[in-house]
Amino acid sequence: MREQPTLVERLIDEVRSHLLTPPTGDDRVVRFGNPEEIAAAFAETVSLEFRDDEPAHEPGRVVDAARQVIDWSVATTHPRFVNQNFAGADPIGVVGDWLGAALNTTGATYEVAPVFTLMEHAVLDKLARLAGFPTTSDVHHPPPGMFCPGGSVGLLFALQLARHRLDPDVTRRGADGTRYAVFVSEAGHYSTRKSAALLGLGTDAVVPVAVDRDGAMRPEALGPAIDSTVAAGRVPLAVVATAGTTVTAAFDPLPSIADECTARGLWLHVDGAYGGSALFSAGQRERLDGLERADSLVWDLHKMMGMTQQCSVLLVREPEQLDACFAARADYLFQPDKRNGELDAGDRTFQCGRRTDVVKLWLAWKAHGDAGMTARVDHAVALADHVRNRVEASDGRFAFVVRGDFTNTCVLWVPPELRPLRVEALDDSQRARLHALAPAVKARMQDDGTAMVGYQPVDGLNCFRLLFMNPAVTTTDADTLLSLIDRYATEQWSS
Ligand SMILES: Cc1ncc(COP(=O)(O)O)c(C=O)c1O
Repeated sequence: MREQPTLVERLIDEVRSHLLTPPTGDDRVVRFGNPEEIAAAFAETVSLEFRDDEPAHEPGRVVDAARQVIDWSVATTHPRFVNQNFAGADPIGVVGDWLGAALNTTGATYEVAPVFTLMEHAVLDKLARLAGFPTTSDVHHPPPGMFCPGGSVGLLFALQLARHRLDPDVTRRGADGTRYAVFVSEAGHYSTRKSAALLGLGTDAVVPVAVDRDGAMRPEALGPAIDSTVAAGRVPLAVVATAGTTVTAAFDPLPSIADECTARGLWLHVDGAYGGSALFSAGQRERLDGLERADSLVWDLHKMMGMTQQCSVLLVREPEQLDACFAARADYLFQPDKRNGELDAGDRTFQCGRRTDVVKLWLAWKAHGDAGMTARVDHAVALADHVRNRVEASDGRFAFVVRGDFTNTCVLWVPPELRPLRVEALDDSQRARLHALAPAVKARMQDDGTAMVGYQPVDGLNCFRLLFMNPAVTTTDADTLLSLIDRYATEQWSS
């Protein structure tokens, strides 16, 4: 008689079936539920809450609960999920993540993670080559960076390194009240402010630098911003240049920013969390020209490259600084007399226990090769180009807020009576109605489960932001997304 599958086998089957046959086409992208609806659904299986005397549930119920998790979660691999700058998890990456989890170890020491330590070295080395940073293939030398739990954390570490370079004693002594300044464009990510707060620099230390129409830092604005900050008694510490801003995917001009940093001895950190992946594409990599002069780079492979959250690296020009800045020399973990202790990554970063995020990237990259990585980026840009063409050929039905030329498109739907749109000619009431349109359309999409499209205010007006990250998205899907926006917006405007 055939044995009944175990609970683990049944759970694997649920996940496997989602992974191999994920929602697509007219399947729902989301089954949007308010907290009460979701809680009520789970109450039929094992309940979301924990009682004081939580029992072990019957296996069938646990499997049902796993199904509920899938049912009530957003299908981010669906081609109509263009909500954020991650989407379309690479199934090989998912399995790689699974492999890492199944082997459950920490990337802290070679002793417990020999393969992963070597993989990290190999992947960091390859990424550094793409970035034009100094590299070493000798595993007995520190790799040119570290894996981090996300771009925000990478930026935090980069600013810590920057301060350490200026004031190495800060690690021992602690902050001495020096009023530092960190420069980032007005369109830069909020993690600069959060990092400044956490490092004790204070959010007042973050000086926003003006951007151009597309959202890229104005090179001529940086020097004066630094000068006036110095005049106000602050010590310039670092410039955070963004390669791929979150909303408009603008790339700051690295060569002129690097000139300014070199002239003034400032740390240049490049936030390539999103746009770093342009380096995979021969047609796109020139957006990051000048990167080779930076001191550090954050690069999220969990954004454009479809690795599961999180898979992010901080690359640094001087890897030996990692040890100088972060090491605590705990002799119960990094014993100086153990075999291959020099390979331990744990004292070159802040974390102790650390997920082996490298394995999914390593596996996927080996499976796809460089060509596959390039194709993913080029596909994303081609889809955004397709949408740009559609918008331009829409007879004013759609208008760009910022046209962009990378993987983001920021568009407005324009009511018939306002075509062709002249934003500057809108009166207050038209502006307010137009601003309220995108959230209302999005809510309708969520209710119907037809799509998930992001929206953001640009110059005070909410626009739809379609981001193409997922290789499964076709031009037909992109057209469907525009038709859905058109349909809902038309209904909403006339309601
Ligand atoms: C430009 C930019 N920098 C940094 C981040 C933060 O990265 P993470 O979400 O990995 O912390 C983001 C996230 O969207 C981003 O768009």
